[in-house]
Amino acid sequence: MRRFSYILFLIVLILAGCFAQQKPISQVHLSWSEDPQTTMSITWQSARPLSNPVVQYGEGKTLSQTAVARRIRYAQETGPLYQVTLRNLKPGTTYSYRVGDPNRGWSEVYTLRTAPATPPARFVFTAFADHGVTDPAAQNVRRVLAGEKPAFHIIMGDLSYANGNQPIWDQWFELIEPLTSQVPFMAVPGNHEDERDIRFATYLARFALPHKELYYRFDYGQARFIMFNSQDFRDAEQLRWFEKELSEARRDPTVRWVIVSMHHPLYSSTVRRLNDTARIEVLQPIFDRYRPDLVLLGHHHNYERTYPLIGMKPVSKHPSRYRKGQGVIYVTSGGGGKSLYDQTPEQPAFTAKREKCYQYLRVTVSDRSLLVECYRTEDNSLLDRFEIVR
Ligand SMILES: [Fe+2]
Repeated sequence: MRRFSYILFLIVLILAGCFAQQKPISQVHLSWSEDPQTTMSITWQSARPLSNPVVQYGEGKTLSQTAVARRIRYAQETGPLYQVTLRNLKPGTTYSYRVGDPNRGWSEVYTLRTAPATPPARFVFTAFADHGVTDPAAQNVRRVLAGEKPAFHIIMGDLSYANGNQPIWDQWFELIEPLTSQVPFMAVPGNHEDERDIRFATYLARFALPHKELYYRFDYGQARFIMFNSQDFRDAEQLRWFEKELSEARRDPTVRWVIVSMHHPLYSSTVRRLNDTARIEVLQPIFDRYRPDLVLLGHHHNYERTYPLIGMKPVSKHPSRYRKGQGVIYVTSGGGGKSLYDQTPEQPAFTAKREKCYQYLRVTVSDRSLLVECYRTEDNSLLDRFEIVR
């Protein structure tokens, strides 16, 4: 009997080991580090080192081409990371791909799509911030994928909440893989990407993004996306770059819409956080001067959207329709999944819509208008909808 129990114990142990075993290829994620029309970057981790790390890819359903990936390293890594940038892709084209090693196995076959060469009649992108490894975070990923597939997804900082505990990064990249394996994922850093002793080392290693990665810009169709690192908002070099980008975007006739993404809101009615006087002092004059069409934010775990503002004052009190250039509309979508924060009993004069709930944004960009919709994660009901027209 004792021997039988021992064998049973061994069987249970072996079965548990099998189930606990890591996927051979995990955390597959797409992003753009170069031209969105002709390139795509892919990053992943493997359970064991790969001797021949490659991406197989091709137009449509084919996998006829191969690109060799490079090993990415950082001191705190939990396993072998690989990164590759596919170049000379055709604009506006869907490709199939899989990553791995001919001898060690492959990921699933996924699809990716490059940006079109001529501005499309319309395109959709999605966004949220303050995500984490939670049930609402996973549900938000499913919500984003259940609608029209976005051209890309923006996350306005505070991604995994690993706070130096590296395996949490692995869990988070696994949680978002259903989205990031098929939709390019464009991040900006929040305060939680600034990890103790190593600052942004994890973020910089695990993402392939343009320029300095902590701040950068990219174009999609007729829109320019300017990504700002608000954790280091006083950095003089970044501020010079930011002003130059905003002024160039305003002068460029091919740029119809200018959308800024960063982590920290300037204006807020979140309890114990309220307005950020330091960031208002530095950034408000820049926003008022160049008037980007939309500023996407996080950090406060709820939803709060302003009227078009100049110097914190609404220039229109219409609930949902605005003229381009009137003022700056700030959208805080910090209910990505991590947790929720209370809002003050009284709604500030600058706020058009606010709610304490989990949510995500769906933005439809066309030549004539920018349509912003916010959906509650719990039941996918519409929380807010407004339009900026040219
Ligand atoms: Fe934050």
